[in-house]
Amino acid sequence: SNIVKMNKPISWHLAQLEEAEEIFDCFTLSYRSFGIQRRSDNGLVLREWAPGAEAVFLTGDFSKFLGKNSLGNYTSPKVDKSPAIKHLTKLKLVVLTKTGEYLFWISPWAKYVTKTLDSVTYDWTHWDPPQRYQFQHTRPPRPSSLRIYEAHVGISSPEGKIASYKNFTRDVLPHIKDLLMAIMEHAYYASFGYQVTNFFAASSRFGTPDDLKHLVDTAHSMGITVLLDVVHRHASSNTEDGLNYFDGTDSCFFHGGSRGNHSLWGSRLFNYSSWEVARFLLSNLRWWKEEYHFDGFRFDAVTSMLYQHHGIGQFHFWGNYSEYFGMHVDEDALVYLMLANHILHKLYPQCITVAEDVSGMPGLCRPIEEGGLGFDYRLTMAVPDKWIQVLKEVGAEDWDLKNIVHTLTNKRRGEASITYAESHDQALVGDKSLAFWLMDKDMYTNILLATSTSWVSNEFGHPEWLDFPKKGNNESYYYAHRLFNLVDIEHLRYRQLYAFDRDMNLTEDKYGWLAGCQSAVTTLNQADKVIVFERANLLFVFNFHPCNSYIDYRVAVEHAGKYKIKLNSDELQYGGQGRLVQDTEFFTEPMPFNGRAQSFLEIMRLLKNMALKYSKRLNKS
Ligand SMILES: *[C@@H]1O[C@H](CO)[C@@H](O)[C@H](O)[C@H]1NC(C)=O
Ligand SMILES: *[C@@H]1O[C@H](CO)[C@@H](O)[C@H](O)[C@H]1NC(C)=O
Ligand SMILES: *[C@@H]1O[C@H](CO)[C@@H](O)[C@H](O)[C@H]1NC(C)=O
Ligand SMILES: *[C@@H]1O[C@H](CO)[C@@H](O)[C@H](O)[C@H]1NC(C)=O
Ligand SMILES: *[C@@H]1O[C@H](CO)[C@@H](O)[C@H](O)[C@H]1NC(C)=O
Ligand SMILES: *[C@@H]1O[C@H](CO)[C@@H](O)[C@H](O)[C@H]1NC(C)=O
Ligand SMILES: *[C@@H]1O[C@H](CO)[C@@H](O)[C@H](O)[C@H]1NC(C)=O
Repeated sequence: SNIVKMNKPISWHLAQLEEAEEIFDCFTLSYRSFGIQRRSDNGLVLREWAPGAEAVFLTGDFSKFLGKNSLGNYTSPKVDKSPAIKHLTKLKLVVLTKTGEYLFWISPWAKYVTKTLDSVTYDWTHWDPPQRYQFQHTRPPRPSSLRIYEAHVGISSPEGKIASYKNFTRDVLPHIKDLLMAIMEHAYYASFGYQVTNFFAASSRFGTPDDLKHLVDTAHSMGITVLLDVVHRHASSNTEDGLNYFDGTDSCFFHGGSRGNHSLWGSRLFNYSSWEVARFLLSNLRWWKEEYHFDGFRFDAVTSMLYQHHGIGQFHFWGNYSEYFGMHVDEDALVYLMLANHILHKLYPQCITVAEDVSGMPGLCRPIEEGGLGFDYRLTMAVPDKWIQVLKEVGAEDWDLKNIVHTLTNKRRGEASITYAESHDQALVGDKSLAFWLMDKDMYTNILLATSTSWVSNEFGHPEWLDFPKKGNNESYYYAHRLFNLVDIEHLRYRQLYAFDRDMNLTEDKYGWLAGCQSAVTTLNQADKVIVFERANLLFVFNFHPCNSYIDYRVAVEHAGKYKIKLNSDELQYGGQGRLVQDTEFFTEPMPFNGRAQSFLEIMRLLKNMALKYSKRLNKS
C-alpha cells in the first residue's frame, strides 16, 4: 500500500521501504536511475514516473529521434565511443496524455536548466561533463554552536546585478561563518527561491553545477559548514519548466483538487502519501548531500506541512495542546519528515537538520525512537518578529522587558533551537532591516553603532531593505545587492559594527553559550530597563534604558569570586564611549540577592547611545 499511517511505528515504515525497494539505499538514490542516465556503454536510459500519461518520449537537439516507450523507460541502441547525447544538449520530454495531447516538459530529475535572455521559460540542458568535479576538501566537523550566516548568492554583490557562485566564493565566503541559502532552480527570481521549478538543478542564474560544487568545497576549506534551505513543502505552479501537470493531470506529485493548491502562495502542494513523491523528495536530499556535499538542511515552511490548515487561520498554538494533535495534523507530512530525518541521520551522522516551525509542535526536535520528528534544531521564528514589532511600535522608554524576555526564553526544554535577531523575512520587501529601523536616515549621514547580525551583511548594518527585480519595481536591481565594501571604508562606522560582531563571534567560540543550557534570568527590572542573566558560566548584563546609567547596581551571581569583563559594547573600537575600565575586577559579597547566594555591585553605562538616538526619533515622529 502506498498509504502510510502514523499509528504504525517508524520501523514498520522502514521495513515497508526496504521490502518494496529491496535496498533502501537505492530508493533514496533514485536520481541515479530516474531521468536520463548514461549507461556504461555510453548508451542511454530514460525512466520517468508519469502514471496519468499514455506515453513519454524524448526529443532534443540531436539528430536521431530516440523513440517511444509506453512504459516510461527508454533504452537507446548501443553507442560505441561518444555518449548518445552530448553534454549541454538541449532536451525535452514529450508527454502524450490520455486525451491525445502532446506536452513538452522538462524531466523532474533534470540536473541543469538554463534560460536565454529572450526566453520566458527554462530549457532542460543535459549535464554530463567529460570530467566530474573532484572535491578537494573534507567536511569540517559538526559544530556544537551554530553561528549561522544567512546568505543569498544572487544579491550578495555590491553591483546591481546577479552575482554568481564564483563571485560569492571569491568575495563573500571570506566574510562569513556558516550559511544557508535557496539555490534550487526557481523560474521566478522574486520568489527568492521559495517557488522551486527544478528540484535537482542548481540555479543556473549564478553559474554551473560545478561552480556551486566549488563554492561548497571552498567553504569547507575555510572550516565553514554549509546548510541548504530546502523547500519540500510546495513547488512552483509552472508547467512548462516546472513539475505541475507533469503527466497531464493535476495529481502527479501533488494532491489533486483544491488540497493540492496553496491558497496564499499560489503554489502546488506535494502528496506525501505517494510512494513516488517520497522517492523524489528523499532522493533530492541525498542528491544535495552526495553530489554537492552540503552539510545539512533547513526545511522551509514546516508549520505549513504539519497541519492541514497550513498554519493559516485562527490557530495560536499557545499552550493549547489539542491544536498540535488530532484531525488537523497532516500525518503523511509527519511521516515524510520523520523518514527524511531518519535517513539523513542514519546515513550521515554529522548532518544537521533545522525545522522552520512557528507552531512549537512538541517533539519536533526529539529523536524518532522517542516518537519525535528527529530534527536537530527548530528556528524560533517568534523572536525576529518580536524585535521588529518592538522597534516599529514601541518607544524605547516603553519596552516591555517582561514580554521580550518571555519571547526569548519561551522554548521547549530538551529541544534545541536557533534564534535569529533577524532573518530574510524581516529584511525583505515590506519591511526594513533591524539596522535600518534603528538608524533610519542616520544610516547615510551618521552611521552609528548597532548589533543586529546574522542576515546577509547586516552584521555591519547594511542599509535599507531587500527587493528583487520584478514588474512592480520596474525590474530594478537597486535593492537586490549587498554593499560588502562599506565595511572596508575607513571613515564609516560600519567597521565598528563589524568589529563588535566579530568579537561577539570570537567570544562565543571561546565560551560556547549558544550550546549552553537555557539562560537563568536573575534581574528583570521593568523600570530600570535592566536584564541580567546567566548562561554557560557567564553573566550577561544589559541596560536597555534610553537615558539612564547606573552606578553600584547590584547583580546576583551563584558562585563567589572575581568577575571580569569579557565583551563590552561601550568600547571605543565598537563606536562606544569607552566609559568602562575594561580590566575592572568585580568581587562578590556573600549577600544573597534575587535568588542567588552572592552578589556584587556593577557599573552600568547606557548600553549604547544608539538607543537614545532611537528614542528621540520616535518622539519626534
Ligand atoms: C521500466 O522500469 C520499471 C521500474 O524499474 C520496471 O518495473 C519495468 O519493468 C521497466 N520496463 C521495461 C520495459 O524495461
Ligand atoms: C563577478 O566577478 C566578475 C569577475 O571578477 C566581475 O566582472 C563581475 O562584475 C562580478 N559580478 C558581480 C555581480 O559582482
Ligand atoms: C495522494 O497519493 C495517494 C497515493 O498515490 C493517492 O491514493 C491519493 O488519492 C492522493 N491524494 C490526492 C488528494 O490526490
Ligand atoms: C489550482 O491552481 C491552478 C493554478 O495553478 C488552477 O488552474 C486550478 O484550477 C486550481 N485548482 C483548484 C481545485 O483550485
Ligand atoms: C483548543 O484548540 C482546539 C482546536 O483548535 C479548540 O477546539 C479549542 O476550543 C481550544 N481550546 C481552548 C481552551 O482555547
Ligand atoms: C522603467 O525602466 C525603463 C528602462 O530602464 C525606463 O525607460 C522607464 O522610464 C522606467 N519607468 C519607471 C516608471 O521608472
Ligand atoms: C567567527 O568565529 C569562528 C570560530 O572562531 C572563526 O573561524 C571565524 O573567522 C569568525 N568570523 C569572524 C567574521 O570573525
